[in-house]
Amino acid sequence: MLDRLEGTKVGEMPPLGIVPERMLAQVIRPERYGEPTSAFAVEEIETPQPGPGEALVYVMAAGVNYNNVWSSLGKPVDVVAARMKAGAKEPFHIGGSDASGIVWAVGEGVTNVKVGDEVVVHCGVWDPADPWVKAGKDPIIAPSNRIWGYETNWGSFAQYTRVQAHQCLPKPPDLPWASAAAYMLVGATAYRMLCGWAPHTVEKDDVVLIWGGSGGLGSQAIQIAKAKGGIPIAVVSGEEKGEYCKKLGAVGYIDRRNFDHWGAMPDWRDNDAYGKWLSGVRAFGKAIWDVLGERRSPRIVFEHPGESTIPTSIVVVDNGGMVVVCAGTTGYLASVDLRYLWMRQKRLQGSHFANDEQCAAFNQMIAAGQVDPCLSRVFAFEDVGTAHQLMYENKHPSGNMAILVGARDAEQKTVD
Ligand SMILES: NC(=O)c1ccc[n+]([C@@H]2O[C@H](COP(=O)([O-])OP(=O)(O)OC[C@H]3O[C@@H](n4cnc5c(N)ncnc54)[C@H](OP(=O)(O)O)[C@@H]3O)[C@@H](O)[C@H]2O)c1
Repeated sequence: MLDRLEGTKVGEMPPLGIVPERMLAQVIRPERYGEPTSAFAVEEIETPQPGPGEALVYVMAAGVNYNNVWSSLGKPVDVVAARMKAGAKEPFHIGGSDASGIVWAVGEGVTNVKVGDEVVVHCGVWDPADPWVKAGKDPIIAPSNRIWGYETNWGSFAQYTRVQAHQCLPKPPDLPWASAAAYMLVGATAYRMLCGWAPHTVEKDDVVLIWGGSGGLGSQAIQIAKAKGGIPIAVVSGEEKGEYCKKLGAVGYIDRRNFDHWGAMPDWRDNDAYGKWLSGVRAFGKAIWDVLGERRSPRIVFEHPGESTIPTSIVVVDNGGMVVVCAGTTGYLASVDLRYLWMRQKRLQGSHFANDEQCAAFNQMIAAGQVDPCLSRVFAFEDVGTAHQLMYENKHPSGNMAILVGARDAEQKTVD
């Protein structure tokens, strides 16, 4: 049993290692599914206990990601119904897939962290008993892999979060809690996309086209590509976002608002429609060459908008290059002109978050100052819904957002 401090007030930081019975959490319930501002509400909830191999982390700050926009909407997956169908009892969802905080309790068999460790938490979880995992294969591909704080409950929008101990990595000591909570989900995802799919890993002088360059994923991808010697080019909507990308290391940017051929590729049998679409794609390809000042195509295209942009990405990626995709924010029905795949031997590769080693390698890049977390805005705990609403409407600032949970302000770095 965990030590519990009778009479600890909900919302106060108890002595290290003492776990109060109840905690404050930003909770989504199916009856509130809808836009983020109305889906989240602060509630008092029983504090979870860590099981074998798990840790309970006192959350200092939490990161904001697109996945809990999806949880709020209850679409495309009703996360609560999916979990209850699989046997979970709680009819609610505590989201949050990024955290910085302090290990407050550990379950049986945990050796990699101890009470008092200052950590950042990555969001990849899997069942250690899964035959795929036991066989030593990449666990983030395992059938049991889940994203903590989206597909699992007890995420970081609460005073305490329950995690598998292997999710915990050392918090870079120079970073404030808020910045430390902002980067792991997007950064480790970008790291696997750019460094995890040999032979298409970013090498010196590789041109890398990065959609949504000023966004969460994009801001990290630009810096990773640059640190690995690549030549990042950003795609954005607007000059201000483009200039932001240049400051992060992009050689230049393309404003997608100057083109109108987005969406599904028209039927190739319709000469007029197909020809018009192809000239839009070619103009976009020329814009890449204009940024570079030479006729070179990207060896890697970093994709996540999906339906709107995949048809273009497949055409503009270089012969033998890779389009690597981790999302379909604009939709999942992406059309591909297969001739470009086989005749020009291009690769369309799916990628999803990262494994422990990739998270650790990316955390090291942050600790070494090679990548900045790009924290752009910090919200109070009450404003979790507002932060997600801004993201839903694509009105959020460039970079990444964080929520103060235990931390008193955006600058706080230690516990004092
Ligand atoms: N599978 C995974 O492991 C994983 C991990 C992280 C994120 N994701 C997913 O990846 C997506 C992006 O996440 P994020 O954190 O980077 O979000 P974000 O911060 O909102 O950035 C996304 C960017 O996409 C661009 N965009 C929006 N609409 C677009 C369109 N119609 N065409 C082209 N670009 C468009 C926007 O930039 P401009 O308006 O400037 O072009 C925006 O900055 C989300 O769907 C998220 O759930 C998946």
